[in-house]
Amino acid sequence: MAYDNLLYSIEDGIAVITINRPDKLNALNRATLADIESAIEDAQANPGVSGILLTGSGEKAFAAGADISEFADFTPEQGMELSATGHDIFNEIENSEKPVIAAVNGFALGGGCELAMACHMRIASANARFGQPEVNLGLIPGYAGTQRLVQLVGKGKAIELLLTGDAIKADEAHRLGLVNHVVETVADLKPKAMEILKKIAGKGPIAVANCIALVNDFYDMEENGFENEVETFGALFQTPEFKEGTQAFLEKRAPKFR
Ligand code: COA
Repeated sequence: MAYDNLLYSIEDGIAVITINRPDKLNALNRATLADIESAIEDAQANPGVSGILLTGSGEKAFAAGADISEFADFTPEQGMELSATGHDIFNEIENSEKPVIAAVNGFALGGGCELAMACHMRIASANARFGQPEVNLGLIPGYAGTQRLVQLVGKGKAIELLLTGDAIKADEAHRLGLVNHVVETVADLKPKAMEILKKIAGKGPIAVANCIALVNDFYDMEENGFENEVETFGALFQTPEFKEGTQAFLEKRAPKFR
């Protein structure tokens, strides 16, 4: 399927989604958000896909935020609708049964930082910059940045970043736990993300999906992740992949899950 605002390909069983508005620093207008949602859903539905890599085109930006030109004259109702739409799409990413890695190749500001935070892991090139500069516009993050930033870096640092609007470099983001790995150049990003995604592709997909869901339960006040873990742990004993995984261990061979 072709998209107007992103490139989409499947490489070695990994869906590679590249936001493709480099002249606008990959700013997330509504059409781009809709394309991202559609590509994520396509990757979810494709049994030949085991993981998803999300990145931006060019060397300058992952995404420099929501498209400011699109909401400059919004009413409160339109603002709320925009935010709710973003929440829905980013929740879909967070709840994806297949792992989603953001390969952050430059600015990840505002909605771009929020998009990266909705992914399960973040890998940054050394030139990446993370920040929530919305206060400079008299705004706040609208795609769950006030919540996911706290989850990832803790309250004190999250408040500092939200109130100052300061952007931080990749190495500081790494130190804070906002990114999992830093690589030297933009060219190093994809190989690193693919390496991790391919490693996960060799594991039991039902187990992988359940790990993601249970980690998300920790942050969901309506879920009891501890109880859910007990139930899920038990339920997995009847899956073919559990039988294959344990059998393979006992037979001293590598498991074949897919
Ligand atoms: N929304 C819409 N357009 C954006 C954008 C955004 N969030 N971020 C960048 N762009 C556009 C610029 O308007 C410019 O378009 P033009 O060439 O048609 O004028 C183009 O992308 C290049 O950006 P520019 O500002 O010239 O690049 P720079 O290297 O001088 O600065 C940034 C880079 C990221 C510091 C700067 O673009 C910026 O501050 N962007 C907004 C970040 C932000 O506030 N994000 C949160 C939004 S809620």
